[in-house]
Amino acid sequence: MNIIIFGPPGAGKGTQAEIIAKNKKLNHLSSGELSRQMINDKVLGEKIKKYLDSGNLIPNPIIINIVEKYIQENKQKNGFIFDGYPRNIGQAHALDKLAKEHNTTIDLVINLQLSESEALKRIMLRGQSSGRSDDNLEITKKRLKIYRERTKPILDYYQQQKKLKTINGKKTITEISQDIKNLIDKIK
Ligand code: AP5
Ligand code: MG
Repeated sequence: MNIIIFGPPGAGKGTQAEIIAKNKKLNHLSSGELSRQMINDKVLGEKIKKYLDSGNLIPNPIIINIVEKYIQENKQKNGFIFDGYPRNIGQAHALDKLAKEHNTTIDLVINLQLSESEALKRIMLRGQSSGRSDDNLEITKKRLKIYRERTKPILDYYQQQKKLKTINGKKTITEISQDIKNLIDKIK
């Protein structure tokens, strides 16, 4: 089973993906975490850091390569939960192509819905202890704008495939986990 968890910065993608991955024995693939782990890479580190710090999307050839390498090296579990990936239509197509090559598919896309003001509040709070260079007001506003303009539109792609389910991201962490669990149990 392969699931995408979708939503703006601060929606709770990482929080929920970790819980689902544990419960359903899935690999948690966070393209943001994978990117942050690469900032000391001799070849790509400097470039990746520049994108992370500025809140811009890492170019597709780089991020797709990072994600595909992780998938290649972590295939043993029941499937993947994709957190923060795909983020544009090129990445969505690349993921479908890869799934096809592995005779698998994306089963469910969970859209965690949260207002921008709520998302901003959460990230400002997290920024007090996260150590993330992009958890500040200016860059978070930029990330939200990029989400709105470049990432959110690909929901249509998954809507057309009837894979999209929307969940209210304003509830408590426990309530949302339960809502997600109910959705997953329905597709099994
Ligand atoms: P990424 O790491 O993916 O960050 P993001 O999308 O901005 O999302 P966040 O991690 O900020 O939020 P989240 O939805 O995971 O929420 P969380 O669970 O932490 O990307 C960072 C950067 O990497 C990008 O800007 C880009 O440069 C690059 N990148 C990554 N993927 C890429 C891609 N595919 N293509 C190109 N570039 C890419 O929760 C937020 C806070 O709220 C936490 O403190 C949490 O404890 C709290 N919280 C969670 N749930 C609740 C709740 N229900 N109620 C109250 N508080 C809650
Ligand atoms: Mg995250």
